[in-house]
Amino acid sequence: MTRLVELDETGPRRLDPEDIDDEKGDVAVCQCGLSDSFPFCDGSHRRTHDEDDGTTYVYEDGERRAVERVVTSDEERDD
Ligand code: FES
Repeated sequence: MTRLVELDETGPRRLDPEDIDDEKGDVAVCQCGLSDSFPFCDGSHRRTHDEDDGTTYVYEDGERRAVERVVTSDEERDD
């Protein structure tokens, strides 16, 4: 499974004591790229649990779709 994620931040986010979850006592950093609270995990990773190995997904407007390949602007399309 692969996921295409668009991020627009250009620098790091420094964590501070307020970032610690009061109930769990830890900080959960998002690694799936889908969190609305990025860089923190908000549970959105649950949407990825049924992704298939070898498939690339795009998550857009609350929907998920599988894509065959990604065409970049400097690459010519086949269709
Ligand atoms: S790891 Fe991305 S939302 Fe939890």
